[in-house]
Amino acid sequence: MTSAQRIYALTGAASGIGYATKQLIESRGGRVIGIDIRDADVVADLATPDGRAAMIEKVADLSGGTIDAILAIAGVDTAGPPTIAVNYYGAIATLDGLRPLLAKSSAPRAVAVSSITSVHAFDQHLLNLMLDGSEALALDRAKDAEFTYATSKRGLSRWIRRHAVRPEWAAAGIPLNAIAPGLVKTALLSRLFEDPAVERRIKGGSPMPLGGPYEPSAAAELLVWLASEANGHMTGQTIFIDGGADVVLRGDGIW
Ligand code: NAI
Repeated sequence: MTSAQRIYALTGAASGIGYATKQLIESRGGRVIGIDIRDADVVADLATPDGRAAMIEKVADLSGGTIDAILAIAGVDTAGPPTIAVNYYGAIATLDGLRPLLAKSSAPRAVAVSSITSVHAFDQHLLNLMLDGSEALALDRAKDAEFTYATSKRGLSRWIRRHAVRPEWAAAGIPLNAIAPGLVKTALLSRLFEDPAVERRIKGGSPMPLGGPYEPSAAAELLVWLASEANGHMTGQTIFIDGGADVVLRGDGIW
């Protein structure tokens, strides 16, 4: 199969990083099955089990049963349970639920969008419930927890690291990775920047020496590479595309 014929199932297709990634894939001849809560080939609410199940059924229908890549991009930053429901449970339901459709691809790939906030302060109890408890318990905890967005992204990166080397992914020949953007010029960020105090806090928490916020097309380039045949052997990683924020925040002591 040539890259021009690849089929990509992509969540968050209606806006921001997801929209930019869809445009880039299509400009290179790929086919995108766009998934979003609005304005997409598959309209589904990834915050709910019913929405996730309907999404998987519809993607199977539209693809004819085979896809070449999953891009789990959809996310929100509204705090509280919806953030955990979409960013963590919606993303892993997308990855796990669509994985069987990758089986017949000659070069299957999966990528999700984490965040620089995956290295920020988080709620340990909520993270434990997400990784080892149930969705109901985690959503209940998220009602009162601090740092729900950062916890949703830390959980997603941790889930990818745990699962990428398991037989259903690694032995099936499917690289599974995430990107961690810094600040990106999208609707999500514009909404947060409506409050100047929040804007100052966010910029202070994600310092970007290389410059930022940046255009979503830059994140799209990395996502498309990770979802392509060109990524032969990278798996389980969260790749920071953050203008240097991770380096500033965590220094060089992690190696
Ligand atoms: P955006 O708001 O422009 O796009 C998010 C998309 O997700 C929208 O099209 C929205 O309709 C969709 N979506 C939201 N809830 C949904 C649901 N319940 N079911 C289905 N689709 C749903 O935001 P952006 O920035 O493009 O976000 C994309 C990803 O990048 C998210 O996971 C976000 O957390 C992440 N991210 C964004 C950063 C930024 O600075 N913009 C930084 C780091 C990560």
